[in-house]
Amino acid sequence: MRMENKVAIITGAGRGIGRATALRYAEEGARVVVADIDQDGAKNVADEVGAKGGNAFAAQANVADRNSVSEMVQETVGRYGRVDILVNNAGILRDAQLRKMTEENFDGVIDVNLKGVFNCAQAVIPVMLEQGSGVILNASSVVAAYGNFGQTNYVAAKASVTGMTKVWARELGRKGIRVNVVSPGIIRTRMTEGIPEKVMAKLLERVASNRLGEPEEIANAYLWLASDEASYVNGHTLAVDGGRLFKKTASIQITEIEEVDNEEVFGSFDPGRVCVCKRSARFSSRGLFGRNSNGTFQWKPCAGLYSYSAMGQLFKSW
Ligand SMILES: NC(=O)c1ccc[n+]([C@@H]2O[C@H](COP(=O)([O-])OP(=O)(O)OC[C@H]3O[C@@H](n4cnc5c(N)ncnc54)[C@H](O)[C@@H]3O)[C@@H](O)[C@H]2O)c1
Repeated sequence: MRMENKVAIITGAGRGIGRATALRYAEEGARVVVADIDQDGAKNVADEVGAKGGNAFAAQANVADRNSVSEMVQETVGRYGRVDILVNNAGILRDAQLRKMTEENFDGVIDVNLKGVFNCAQAVIPVMLEQGSGVILNASSVVAAYGNFGQTNYVAAKASVTGMTKVWARELGRKGIRVNVVSPGIIRTRMTEGIPEKVMAKLLERVASNRLGEPEEIANAYLWLASDEASYVNGHTLAVDGGRLFKKTASIQITEIEEVDNEEVFGSFDPGRVCVCKRSARFSSRGLFGRNSNGTFQWKPCAGLYSYSAMGQLFKSW
């Protein structure tokens, strides 16, 4: 068991990634503090850990409130005597485009996603320093690196978390405390369940693994980073995102060869969309075939490689 005798506080553990992490840590022998602003959620997860033979207690805590955080840490030390791991996972969204984002929504996200991380880390540091050991893991997001439409507040917080982590790694590394970031991609939790199907499909086009991640896959990253197997990993941001691509390129892949209108078709691009690429007698003559609504093919000469969206535009313009 990789977490034997360890005590871990996980914020936002009442559901989603935090819940999965609490269950995974407990499975590996940790005593877990299931901290969440949502008391029922925290209690349910702590009960779930208990039902599986693990050791956990639920702590209602608002990471944005320093008194609440301080009480939660005191209770942890009172019950378990130490704090080995802090997973700063609690997070919220309040999306709006820049011109429409209210100050309240900006501050709300900063208070939880950024200041909450600071509050919790500052509250456990005296305990970890006294122990001469500890691990702090912070939740960022792929959007910290790429930006995201409508997420000024969220991206500001998540990008700052990665910067803050590097500072703490420098300040605390020599004292036996490691600080790292996990940067999840698109994960199947309540945070992403409202994303419309079409938008999700577009988002997943840019994920090399071409699927949503599961909370357990993030929990495994938190497990490894907290374990002694990662003893020399410090100040690092670990992306767990299925391979995020800037742009899905249409580098023509030869997937099938067929004859259309007596022309040699050498590659098939996205067969689901019945688009095919063709090479006619001369190699230099390149273009795309699109199927019309009446089922016949139409040929449009073009050169070079096209992104999926550029191809789409090309067909729309026919
Ligand atoms: N789901 C994703 O695709 C994704 C992607 C990148 C990063 N993340 C990050 O991972 C973390 C977990 O996300 P999730 O998808 O599990 O979200 P979620 O919404 O399912 O769960 C978040 C949990 O945090 C709790 N919480 C909210 N405000 C709190 C506060 N002030 N104090 C304490 N607890 C609070 C909620 O009650 C909830 O239980 C977040 O920091 C999120 O930003 C998620």
